[in-house]
Amino acid sequence: MAKVTTATLQKMKLQGEKISTITAYDASFAKIFDQAGIHAILIGDSLGMVLQGQDDTLPVDIDHMAYHTQCVKRGVENTLIISDMPFMSYATKEQAFTNAAKLMQAGASMVKLEGGLWLEDTIRGLVERGIPVCAHLGLTPQSVNVFGGFKVQGRDQAKAEEMIAHAKALEAAGAQLLVLECIPAGLGKAISQALTIPTIGIGAGKDTDGQILVMHDALGISCSYMPKFSRNFLIDTGDIQKAIELYISEVTNGNFPGDEHIFK
Ligand code: KIV
Ligand code: NA
Repeated sequence: MAKVTTATLQKMKLQGEKISTITAYDASFAKIFDQAGIHAILIGDSLGMVLQGQDDTLPVDIDHMAYHTQCVKRGVENTLIISDMPFMSYATKEQAFTNAAKLMQAGASMVKLEGGLWLEDTIRGLVERGIPVCAHLGLTPQSVNVFGGFKVQGRDQAKAEEMIAHAKALEAAGAQLLVLECIPAGLGKAISQALTIPTIGIGAGKDTDGQILVMHDALGISCSYMPKFSRNFLIDTGDIQKAIELYISEVTNGNFPGDEHIFK
């Protein structure tokens, strides 16, 4: 596989090819995923939960993210590396610039931020300064306390329309990728069709341009519970390398997610 860039993902959307992505936090797993041909690896702030055993992602800080980004970078040859900006590390534009620079210098090629319209200026400023941005809408876990729990978002018509408007605004501000987490499948489809940039879904149905899973969920080793939208690919294969290859092929040929992984 050739080196994956933002241009590769854009071209895949145009050609209707599904994008398969997964989280990783260290060099060894990153290398297996890279060699299997995964298109992008996210160093997610989910590391707070799956590595640190925290209840949510709020305790994760920029130094944790930079450290794990460095670790992943050493295992990767071709995959696009995306790093999460952790809770409150982009509360202001200036903080976002400083902290995004740390992740880029640690080895990321793109940073991800959670939120809607309020991020327009921040995204525009990052892109102008040479930092590609992945946006993230739906169940944005850094806002779990505002939502009152990890709940599916965008269920009513007004909220769904608002999310479509926010997605368009983030694209207009310069975001080059959009993660959609835990939303009804129909809304995942509507947003994906409304945008020219690729969407990557997790619990957002079959019709997003790509899929992402937390690696611990995809391998069935999460210390919390198994989310409805995930599947244990290790149980079908008995081998981590084959599990990731199965995940990629199931995403590519449209078999994952199945009906049982979808919010209606
Ligand atoms: O932190 C993470 O792993 C994420 C993905 C679930 C999209 O943000
Ligand atoms: Na995250």
